[in-house]
Amino acid sequence: MESAPYLDLLKRCLIGLIHEDPAIRFTWDESGSSTLVPFDHEQRCNGRDWPSQADTMIGMKRLENLEAVTAVVLEAGTLGDLLEAGVWRGGATIFMRGLLKAHGVTDRTVWVADAFAKRFPVTDREGATARMGKPCQWLSTSPPTCVASKTSAASASVKSPK
Ligand SMILES: C[S@@+](CC[C@H](N)C(=O)[O-])C[C@H]1O[C@@H](n2cnc3c(N)ncnc32)[C@H](O)[C@@H]1O
Repeated sequence: MESAPYLDLLKRCLIGLIHEDPAIRFTWDESGSSTLVPFDHEQRCNGRDWPSQADTMIGMKRLENLEAVTAVVLEAGTLGDLLEAGVWRGGATIFMRGLLKAHGVTDRTVWVADAFAKRFPVTDREGATARMGKPCQWLSTSPPTCVASKTSAASASVKSPK
């Protein structure tokens, strides 16, 4: 496929292989005191860490799976839009837009659905608070409301509604 290099670069950018950003220590990991842990290529590719900067946490294998199943849908001519439920920073959704672009598809919408209200602890203080046993808000399931947003067909950006 002519667009394979574009999709390969997009995947690498979205999971952070370009800048190799450190991961955020899991809230239950008490093996160290710092909030961030060094970048680990294997963990990142397997989607086994929480990137501090990268746009998706699902890793290379799941992006490749998303690529494969999207191709099946498009080749089969299955009708409909694409939607990701639970987008976090939106990297997998951005990848879906890239896939549609690579396949020359212009008549399908990509939807994102998320609470758009929770986030990982990003500062030392927040990380420490989470590790000290206080409820990790990101893991909370409330509020139960979801907000869906349509991504622009012309760009690969993801917008969260206010
Ligand atoms: C594991 S992350 C998703 C990772 C993402 N798919 C990626 O590519 O990196 C889970 C996401 O689900 C969202 N979420 C969890 N519970 C939710 C709820 N009850 N309603 C709406 N969104 C929720 C969180 O805000 C978070 O963005």
